[in-house]
Amino acid sequence: MSGIASSPVDPFAPDFLIDPYPAYEALRALGPAFALERYGVWAMAGYAEVEPALKDWKTFISGEGVGLHGMNPALPRPLTLQIDPPDHDKGRRVLGRTLSPGVARKLRETFQREAEKKVSELIDRGSFDAVTDLGEAYPMKVFPDAIGIRPDGREKLLAWSTFVFDSFGPENEMLAASRKAGLAAQGWIMECCARDALRPDGLGMMIYQAADEGEITEHEATHLVRPFLTAGIDTTVNGIGNTLLALATHPDEYRKLHHRPELARNAFEEGLRYDSPVQTFFRTTSRDVEIGGSVIPAHRKVLLFMASANRDPARWDKPDRFEVERVATGPVGFGAGIHACVGQMIARLEGELIFSELARRVKTIELTAEPKRRLNNSLRGLASMPVRVAAA
Ligand code: HEM
Repeated sequence: MSGIASSPVDPFAPDFLIDPYPAYEALRALGPAFALERYGVWAMAGYAEVEPALKDWKTFISGEGVGLHGMNPALPRPLTLQIDPPDHDKGRRVLGRTLSPGVARKLRETFQREAEKKVSELIDRGSFDAVTDLGEAYPMKVFPDAIGIRPDGREKLLAWSTFVFDSFGPENEMLAASRKAGLAAQGWIMECCARDALRPDGLGMMIYQAADEGEITEHEATHLVRPFLTAGIDTTVNGIGNTLLALATHPDEYRKLHHRPELARNAFEEGLRYDSPVQTFFRTTSRDVEIGGSVIPAHRKVLLFMASANRDPARWDKPDRFEVERVATGPVGFGAGIHACVGQMIARLEGELIFSELARRVKTIELTAEPKRRLNNSLRGLASMPVRVAAA
């Protein structure tokens, strides 16, 4: 890798992950593509490179795994995230139908009712932990209910997905810490994906209907329910948590939202741009590719800093400001191209409903102690955020 820009930083080290944004600025200044010496991989951190790379699935492939070490042999062969066309298309078609805008419309009423219940309960309490009591509690209720999985043991969902997202990074202390609980949850997760364990009217059973119609096999159906539980929980939990922190630390922005609750969907979108729950994913080059004068050879791992692209001043006006009225088109918090998040309708629905309910009913949100981070190799989120709210 001689002659190309490179950096000694470890983007998976705790001191990097606590506040990655100054480091992202320095990485973007290295140029369009650079090497990360510690891991012997390439990387891109600017919007002008990350967004097209996400869309160029023929050059930047996912089928060699979207983590540092390629495919995890402990996990069954995936049918979405870590697979390329044409094999990707079948699973994606079935998931896309299950998580369509029409389905999201049908879920709205139930999700709204649960948002009202949750916010009423928290207003009555006055002080609570905005991560565990809200950021985790709301999505962990509404989404597993929608899938149709059993109510007991749901705490295992977080242990499982924390481990999966850690395993996209290197063998480090985060991965070591989440592995034991993650593997212990794996059996329960797979049990929840079985046909017999699913409610007949839930999203999970819609996947089995595709098997009944011969579109996919029974075995494939089981492995298509699993991404709901891997990709659809921790991401939304952290998206809601990060947006809550942004609102609690930007009282002027919260005031705007309080006066115009119809901004809730936009505020959540801005939260996902400003402090993206999914910070990075890897790709592998399928051929030699020139990026801004440097040639990345074929078969190399490339780390895409999506959260950095979402803060790139070359793309966004004052990107380090959190502005609930910002109309941001094209952030890559949900990815882009053929692997763009298939669950984004559901995530947006959860965000819109919980933040509009808060905006209507809560006048102020105030931190009562320093929030604590939960460090993860791919996800950015919090372990706790004590707050006090005042009813409107
Ligand atoms: C893909 C983020 C919620 C299921 C992705 C990708 C991102 C992402 C960045 C692209 C991965 C890549 O390019 O390699 C998020 C965020 C969420 C969220 C920030 C919440 C705020 C959900 C939900 C589900 C879900 C609720 C529901 C099941 C998936 C699946 C894929 C995916 C299955 C793989 C799609 C494919 O490969 O075609 N998500 N996600 N996500 N997401 Fe989400």
